[in-house]
Amino acid sequence: MIVIAIDGPAASGKSTTARLVAQEMGFLHLDTGAMYRAVTLACMQAGLPPEESARLAKLLATLEIQFQPEAEGGQSVRLNGSLVTEDIRRPDVTRQVSAYSALPGVRESMVKLQRQIGQEHDVVCEGRDIGTQVFPDAQFKFYLVADLKVRAQRRFEEQLRKGLKPSIETIIAELEKRDREDTLREHSPLKQADDAMAVDTTTLTIPAQVEFVLSKIQAGRKKVDQTHRTKETWTSQ
Ligand code: DC
Repeated sequence: MIVIAIDGPAASGKSTTARLVAQEMGFLHLDTGAMYRAVTLACMQAGLPPEESARLAKLLATLEIQFQPEAEGGQSVRLNGSLVTEDIRRPDVTRQVSAYSALPGVRESMVKLQRQIGQEHDVVCEGRDIGTQVFPDAQFKFYLVADLKVRAQRRFEEQLRKGLKPSIETIIAELEKRDREDTLREHSPLKQADDAMAVDTTTLTIPAQVEFVLSKIQAGRKKVDQTHRTKETWTSQ
């Protein structure tokens, strides 16, 4: 199976790029952030703070998270059968997700699920630790970055489109906080893998960043073909 790993901080362009690259290649788009968000929502609904590790382990054991690709390229997320695609993006979930995703028990069960999916499908997998921990042998690794102000502006516009009344200052402060927590945590912190290609999307349009990633995959694929490492070759059909 082929794994294309896309890591990077929040609002760096990962999700859009991963979704469109997956669409183009006919691969599954695996949004691991959505998994951590679903766990966070479940804990919040159960009134379970991150400190309560024993109760949390019990909850994790009973949790069923399902992803379903949608016709227009997105994916719906279900938590124990209920549709939570919108709810996992709520600002209160976003504020809590770094605390829950830093817990080793949460990471262990999510990584297990991610690897299982990667064994069964060709995937474009996006997250924070995909190239470093989840799929260290991924055939292609990208690390997306962008200036904080540009990332904040993207989130601002996204929230406006959802009919919310966002504050750019609050978004900047929350992005900084989440970057700090995701980068400094003990287990599987956000980090560029040594063999990942960095892509700065600050001034790139969406089609340009998708085109860039696809062109690198195409070039890498040719190189692999030329060295006759047939195990690593594939067709996108
Ligand atoms: O990509 P996102 O903003 O939806 O991710 C939400 C949070 O989930 C992010 O702040 C940290 C966590 N996360 C993680 O710890 N590891 C991943 N592979 C993906 C996300």
